[in-house]
Amino acid sequence: MSQGEERFRIADLIGARVQGMQEYAPEPLAETARRLGVPMETLIKLDANENPYGPTDRAAQVLREYGEHHRYPDPISRRLRQAIGAYIGVDPEQVLVGNGSDELIDLLLRLFRPAPDASGGIGQVLDCPPTFGMYSFYGVANDMQVIELPRLPDYAVDVAAIEALCEKDPRPKVLFVASPNNPDGQLLPEPALRRLLALPLLVVLDEAYIEFAGGSRAGWVAERDNLVVLRTFSKWAGLAGLRVGYGVFPRALAPALLRLKSPYNVNGAAQAAALATLEDVAQAQERVRLLVAERERLFRRLQGVAVVEPHPSAANYILCRVRGYSLEELRQRMEAQGILLRYYGRGGLEQCIRISVGTPEQNDAVIAALEALPPRS
Ligand SMILES: Cc1ncc(COP(=O)(O)O)c(C=O)c1O
Repeated sequence: MSQGEERFRIADLIGARVQGMQEYAPEPLAETARRLGVPMETLIKLDANENPYGPTDRAAQVLREYGEHHRYPDPISRRLRQAIGAYIGVDPEQVLVGNGSDELIDLLLRLFRPAPDASGGIGQVLDCPPTFGMYSFYGVANDMQVIELPRLPDYAVDVAAIEALCEKDPRPKVLFVASPNNPDGQLLPEPALRRLLALPLLVVLDEAYIEFAGGSRAGWVAERDNLVVLRTFSKWAGLAGLRVGYGVFPRALAPALLRLKSPYNVNGAAQAAALATLEDVAQAQERVRLLVAERERLFRRLQGVAVVEPHPSAANYILCRVRGYSLEELRQRMEAQGILLRYYGRGGLEQCIRISVGTPEQNDAVIAALEALPPRS
């Protein structure tokens, strides 16, 4: 027994909230290839809403030539924030860059989490599942009470339920809404956003996929003190592995977030690649157009496939309800052909899969594999 163990069992002292948390550890592609016994390059990876085209040529070149690995990066991403401000038409002072937009979800909640004596701050997070899992994850991680207000059967946000809750308990809360939502791909309609902004809520509008939809509300942040818009380079710009996200924050919050964040949260190569993407944005935008056209084609083709029922999407993925096959059997059949999709199964997503839009060839392969499955009742 070591000295420490005589005084206490260290494992017993881990915060209770962590016991119930799930490790987030999707299988890396190389591991999947080994498990399936096939070369990694043959796999059709459509399970994480990544961009199949990768970074732009300019960003890839900047990464190849990047020579600052031995230096600390700009801690407050000055040039990148300027470029983001120009790209989306907002004041760079209101932009903050993060290690993926994930980090900014956490940072924002850390800004508001009440002190240990439960004084001040915001203690409650509103989550509208099914949606992106990191809102509740970081809510729990920050000791906040996560209140779930499930979406309606068509996956629209239940605005009336949120209004009723705020009426009953008017204490300020943080509400997360993804628009388009992950996994169904539906945008939050403007009247719904206006109703939410009228409530005692800090509305965090997560626009991770907005380039595939159009109609960003980032410009609204300048006029309001209770709206945050999150965006990312992971999807449209093909930089998921480098981890660059950003947010547009009300003037009253941006300086506080800059003080609170980790010093070098966005590494130098990531900043350089994101900047290069914005300096020559045409290629990324052309790929977005291709992916949107492919999304529409994939949707139309899936409508004609007996074993799935696709849900219309404004993002780079399509949610489908599966008919006649268990998700496990479907997974096995798809994996046997090297096709990786996202399988759900709980929380309003029973019998659901999500297909990320790939290249035309990848999409053809998915369509063919699903079409080949004999219909079952
Ligand atoms: C709705 C939504 N928000 C945020 C993210 C995370 O983005 P990032 O890679 O910038 O952390 C994702 C990634 O899947 C997402 O689906």
